[in-house]
Amino acid sequence: MISNEAKIGVVGAGTMGTGIAQVAATQGHQVYLYDAYPQQLEKSKAGLKSILARQVEKERMTQEEVDGILNRIEFVDNITNFSECGFVIEAIVEDLAVKKDTFARLEGIVSKDCVLASNTSSLSIAAISSALKKPERFLGVHFFNPAPLMKLVEIISGIATDDKVFNSTKKFIKSWNKITVSGKDTPGFIVNRVARPFYGEALRIFEEGIADAATIDWAMKEIGGFRMGPFELMDLIGHDVNYEVTSTVFEAFYYDPRFKPSFAQKRMVEAGWLGRKSGRGFYNYNDDSKNPAP
Ligand code: NAI
Repeated sequence: MISNEAKIGVVGAGTMGTGIAQVAATQGHQVYLYDAYPQQLEKSKAGLKSILARQVEKERMTQEEVDGILNRIEFVDNITNFSECGFVIEAIVEDLAVKKDTFARLEGIVSKDCVLASNTSSLSIAAISSALKKPERFLGVHFFNPAPLMKLVEIISGIATDDKVFNSTKKFIKSWNKITVSGKDTPGFIVNRVARPFYGEALRIFEEGIADAATIDWAMKEIGGFRMGPFELMDLIGHDVNYEVTSTVFEAFYYDPRFKPSFAQKRMVEAGWLGRKSGRGFYNYNDDSKNPAP
């Protein structure tokens, strides 16, 4: 059982890790947010401060609530404090070898009852857990972007996950005001598997020159009723993450052409056009022009 007073460890202070830390701190937990890159910790702290300041401006939160959240998050450049945590979630780069290495290190630090989770979008829970001596305490806890706003969290059991760990984690995440869905350890789980053809077909239409990104987004929103178009959404997710997830799902489904990654997206990753987080993706966020990239 994860206690309601548990301290929470978050590994990776990027888009998802920062959002998850905000969720946990909003629920009153003491949070340790770790990143291997100090500049990323600075970026995460500044980003969080500005998001929360906007909440005060819009009168959705009081300054006192915001101060409480910020005081409960400790931005740390090492994982030694994680020994005090009851629940640790990893949200680092979508790379199996790096995740395995991180969990092997974590296991040497956390207490024996600490539940370990990965926010992976597409990697096998079984494969990540193979790095652990106690894989039964490990599972997938997959938040969506932006974590503080998106209600759904996929809870994924690996073949080695203990049922008690699975059930108590599910209950714990529900207590964070989230809606959970249980899924099996299959590539892309539920949402990312359904979403692959949404991005993939949009990218094919773009590559074939049938319509540009802005037109496709416009059609999907205005006529299709989607909240965001596929290109806006890929810019929000980050092209590095989205491309990696597609590649993983494609490979994991034995190269089923339905999941084939796109050259257009690969080129953007290679160029460092990662979307909102780098200021440039299909749209340009540096000058607010929102012009589609050439
Ligand atoms: P991101 O690129 O924004 O952040 C990753 C962070 O991890 C960076 O701050 C980086 O410095 C740090 N990092 C990299 N290697 C590290 C290591 N060895 N130790 C500690 N920190 C390290 O990535 P994002 O988007 O937050 O994704 C993180 C994870 O969450 C991935 O597994 C991704 O598939 C998953 N995810 C992403 C979603 C999205 O919309 N971006 C949605 C749901 C899940």
